[in-house]
Amino acid sequence: MHDTNPLTADRRFLAPFRGTPLSPPPVWLMRQAGRYLPEYRATRKEAGSFLDLCYNPRLAAEVTLQPIRRYGFDAAILFSDILVVPDALGQGVRFAEGEGPRLDPITDVAGLARLDLGKARGKFETVWETVSLLRKSLPVETALIGFCGAPWTVATYMVEGRGSSDQGAARGWAYRDPQGFKRLIDMLVEASIRYLDGQVRAGAEVLQIFDSWAGSLAENEFDRWVLEPTKRIVSELKSKHPRVPVIGFPRGAAAKLKDFAAATGVDGVSCDTSCPLRIMQEVADQGIVVQGNLDPLLLVAGGEALDRRVDEIVMAMSGKRFVFNLGHGIVPETPPEHVARLVERLRTVRGCA
Ligand code: CP3
Repeated sequence: MHDTNPLTADRRFLAPFRGTPLSPPPVWLMRQAGRYLPEYRATRKEAGSFLDLCYNPRLAAEVTLQPIRRYGFDAAILFSDILVVPDALGQGVRFAEGEGPRLDPITDVAGLARLDLGKARGKFETVWETVSLLRKSLPVETALIGFCGAPWTVATYMVEGRGSSDQGAARGWAYRDPQGFKRLIDMLVEASIRYLDGQVRAGAEVLQIFDSWAGSLAENEFDRWVLEPTKRIVSELKSKHPRVPVIGFPRGAAAKLKDFAAATGVDGVSCDTSCPLRIMQEVADQGIVVQGNLDPLLLVAGGEALDRRVDEIVMAMSGKRFVFNLGHGIVPETPPEHVARLVERLRTVRGCA
């Protein structure tokens, strides 16, 4: 079992989750593997389509390792995508070049007949194989993060058939026919549990649940479609793997962050760019590991403005159980040398104990 692996204790990344704040804090960046790196673009070309890359264990492991080789982050995140789950369930997913994901929308209960939980295992297995390859090839000091999309966020893509600015199609179905929409969410809860359980069995040591569109829901809807499903996933994983930390990322929901942390049972929360440092401090004081929240656009800008904000975040979170990260994923325009500057800055700047 990976939870009892004696090496686990050596990984800096895990220290805050075991109760020890670190100075300087551990660091990894959301979307640390991706188009801003020339070596990613080369491997992506070799793989063919984006999903071909996700389902090719050798190449997916390679792109996961690329940012670790360059920057020595404290954690690697499995290279995959949250839309692997609907794809594995049988709703075809395509990534149109430069346009983002496309799915044939499922807009009502009748559409659920196109999904088959039993069939998902085949595609999940290729991702699990990537995880095992990674655990064998990562440096011993680097932790491995597995992930999935939260049921609400994955459902927004399944119902809309693409990314959208207001998640209107999914919010509409949830109001019109909450019982029917709940069947979709329930299927995603079950699929996510199986998918994450397999990732842990293959070697993932930390899990992150991405809820990129949590911020679009009204209060009661948030409880029903974000808190409740996330809580079910976390409690099932905790019963199977009690020592594997789970991080939630309810993007856009800073005002509900303390409730989210308390209600779902996560060990850590990732905070988006708009989340005030004061709230991050308060959540950390609740006994939760906090991760975040540098603006990815500041990483594009670079220079002294970047240094100043890095220092400010580190100082505000010093003495707390904190992991340095961005507030959202790295954007493709990011100069790779700015990432190097950030990592260098983090190694030299220390918060007071
Ligand atoms: O963080 C990492 O390095 C691990 C890999 C990872 C990807 N996507 C790779 C990816 C992770 C953790 C994700 C999560 C993901 N995917 C989320 C949640 C986090 C967030 O960004 O809000 C969401 C909403 C998706 C769905 C998705 N995947 C969209 C909307 C897009 C298109 C937008 C874009 O940037 O092109 C993707 C594609 C995608 N996922 C790329 C990468 C590297 C770019 C595709 C390419 O190489 O052509």
